[in-house]
Amino acid sequence: MSELKIGLIGNGSISECHLSAYQANPKVKLWAISDLNEQRAQETAKKYGIPHVYTDYHDLLANAEVDAVSICTWNNTHAEISIAALEAGKDVLCEKPLCKTVDEALRIEEAVQRTGRLLQVGYVRRHASNIGVLKKFIDAGDLGEIYYAKASIIRRLGNPGGWFADKERSGGGPLIDIGVHVIDLCWYLMGRPKVKSVSGNTYNKLGNRSHIENFSFYQAADYDASLNTVEDMANALVRFENGASLMVDVSFSLHAKMNSAHVNIYGDKGGAEIEPALSIVTEKHNTIINIEPQISEPGFNFQEAFDNEINHFVDACLGLIETNSPVEDGVEMIKILNAIYQSAEEGREIHFE
Ligand SMILES: NC(=O)c1ccc[n+]([C@@H]2O[C@H](COP(=O)([O-])OP(=O)(O)OC[C@H]3O[C@@H](n4cnc5c(N)ncnc54)[C@H](O)[C@@H]3O)[C@@H](O)[C@H]2O)c1
Repeated sequence: MSELKIGLIGNGSISECHLSAYQANPKVKLWAISDLNEQRAQETAKKYGIPHVYTDYHDLLANAEVDAVSICTWNNTHAEISIAALEAGKDVLCEKPLCKTVDEALRIEEAVQRTGRLLQVGYVRRHASNIGVLKKFIDAGDLGEIYYAKASIIRRLGNPGGWFADKERSGGGPLIDIGVHVIDLCWYLMGRPKVKSVSGNTYNKLGNRSHIENFSFYQAADYDASLNTVEDMANALVRFENGASLMVDVSFSLHAKMNSAHVNIYGDKGGAEIEPALSIVTEKHNTIINIEPQISEPGFNFQEAFDNEINHFVDACLGLIETNSPVEDGVEMIKILNAIYQSAEEGREIHFE
């Protein structure tokens, strides 16, 4: 079995999930790391025994021994770094969202086609083991035609600050940061239907609530609460050409009693609740049945899903499988997210051709 040499670009909070997953995979060697913060990268290199450390990602890409890279930087750098990596002959795992704008997404897609390299979008929720179980039920037709999905991730206090809260670098707030996960998951399970129109709303009412005490939450590596130009919350209705629809709401700040996560899909033969734990609903002999799959991880286990995602990427790089999250799925999601922001700004429904 050939050994894949991995470079990691962007050594902040989420990179730890990538690094530990690569370290546990016997088919790869962590070979290079790059971060703007040299001390951070040096410390990580020491911890994981990574031989090459760079502050400029171009130098990492110039290392001919690196076969593939994980990109874990701010969203506004994903397009530039992905394209440079593909052109340097590397396969790419790019964290979600693929990028900020549709123009960037199309340029990345063009680079994938031109170079013939692989780009996998970091849709980690697709790799949760409960999704693997549910996908078997869906593919076998047990849910029938899925015509409605409903996704909600509510954080009452959860603006990660730093670049996440700077629209220039992030592209937006909870919609592009956490909405992308659940909109993608529903869209993927619905069979990737073509989008017809979107209608969305965004609100900037509460700010980042950084005055709240005694409550911890996910923070960027360089947490800074002084700048916040992103929405507190967003909701949207997405219509698909096959008649299916998706309702979503997400927040960083909201006067909600509890944080919550719900992702439900509904078909004409059965439905499924994915968050907080997988259950499947159907009927048999004129009786409604709730099926509770007996699996080790009925909910979303963060590190387990990252391990699966990285293992999937590695096998795709080695040509053993085709990735389930190709660049096209990144492009489609950026189109949806940007249309939701446009709809909110213009106060009207946006129609796709
Ligand atoms: N899949 C998930 O569940 C998940 C969770 C959190 C974050 N993310 C995504 O991961 C990415 C990083 O998020 P994070 O929470 O780790 O942020 P972070 O702020 O903690 O880390 C980002 C790191 O990137 C570095 N960086 C920025 N530009 C760089 C460049 N040009 N070259 C090298 N390094 C650079 C910064 O110095 C920082 O160390 C984002 O795209 C985010 O959306 C995904």
